[in-house]
Amino acid sequence: MEGLIPLGKTDIRISRMGLGTWQWGDRLMWSYGKTHTDRDLREAFQATLDAGINFFDTAEVYGKGRSERLLGEYLREACQPPSAAPLVVASKFMPYPWRLRKGALCSALRASLTRLNMVRVDLYQIHWPFPPVPIATWANALADAVEAGWARAVGVSNFNPAQMSRAYEVLAKRGVPLASNQVEYQLLNRRVEHNGLLDLCHQLGVTLIAYSPLGKGLLTGKYTPEIRPPGARGFTVSKARLGRIQPLIQRLREIGVAHGGKSPAQVALNWLIAKGTVPIPGAKNARQAQENAAALGWSLAACEIARLDEESQKASE
Ligand SMILES: NC(=O)c1ccc[n+]([C@@H]2O[C@H](COP(=O)([O-])OP(=O)(O)OC[C@H]3O[C@@H](n4cnc5c(N)ncnc54)[C@H](OP(=O)(O)O)[C@@H]3O)[C@@H](O)[C@H]2O)c1
Repeated sequence: MEGLIPLGKTDIRISRMGLGTWQWGDRLMWSYGKTHTDRDLREAFQATLDAGINFFDTAEVYGKGRSERLLGEYLREACQPPSAAPLVVASKFMPYPWRLRKGALCSALRASLTRLNMVRVDLYQIHWPFPPVPIATWANALADAVEAGWARAVGVSNFNPAQMSRAYEVLAKRGVPLASNQVEYQLLNRRVEHNGLLDLCHQLGVTLIAYSPLGKGLLTGKYTPEIRPPGARGFTVSKARLGRIQPLIQRLREIGVAHGGKSPAQVALNWLIAKGTVPIPGAKNARQAQENAAALGWSLAACEIARLDEESQKASE
């Protein structure tokens, strides 16, 4: 399929954008069961496949395993033309404080594989660099997972440059490349540009997977000081902040118009692709999945990227 890129330095090939599945089963943050049902999610999954996207991100903690179970179910029934690219499934290990032994990672991975109904996951990631277990121990456990044939490739998530370098070195000694680092990155959070992580990923050939690429919905433009996001998300963003981001939303709209009517979400996702990263927007239904997928297949001009860089700076001041 056209437009696929390598995942890090592996032979796995992914679309320039993936689909995030935190929403699949999560009631607290994402109001699963109220704003979207399993039927909506199945349709979002199929719409994503139809758009040529082959990369899906889940985690053992999403919906307490429900996200992996639903993804496993949809994968089993997936309706894809024979010429379509093989699907690439990523999941994550949570280093809970009671998981103290290296073997905990492979046990958790096998439980994920059962929920996903797969014999091997394409990408297995450490969700957070939480203490007390050292990064080297979990990195060695990732290498064990590859050697055992339970993961094709491995990655980390929420690792800063020093933490990522440590994981990279330990894996390299075992002959396993660190494929990816999944971190928050979008126009409202550009920390990875300031702390050197984006440059380091490019230097080392590690794919930066950008999570919350729509700022948990804020960059779609549908939330304003008067219209707050539903559920727990409403408590994470103040009225003042919602007011501060409106000029950026206006800029996204203007640029979208210049590209034949692209939406703020599509422009925000295209900006992340232009930065050399792979965004994984979450979608609650087919309409959102289709809209997000149309961020592919066109490119922002350099001057538009510069204007968005400038406006996003002001929105975060
Ligand atoms: N590794 C980590 O620690 C970590 C952390 C967070 C996320 N992630 C991953 O990254 C994925 C994406 O991040 P995210 O889910 O936090 O946030 P996001 O992708 O920035 O926002 C997703 C939400 O925005 C709204 N939305 C999406 N597309 C839309 C559209 N076209 N039009 C209108 N509204 C739209 C939907 O919520 P509403 O309709 O309710 O507004 C959707 O649930 C997650 O699903 C997960 O796989 C990983």
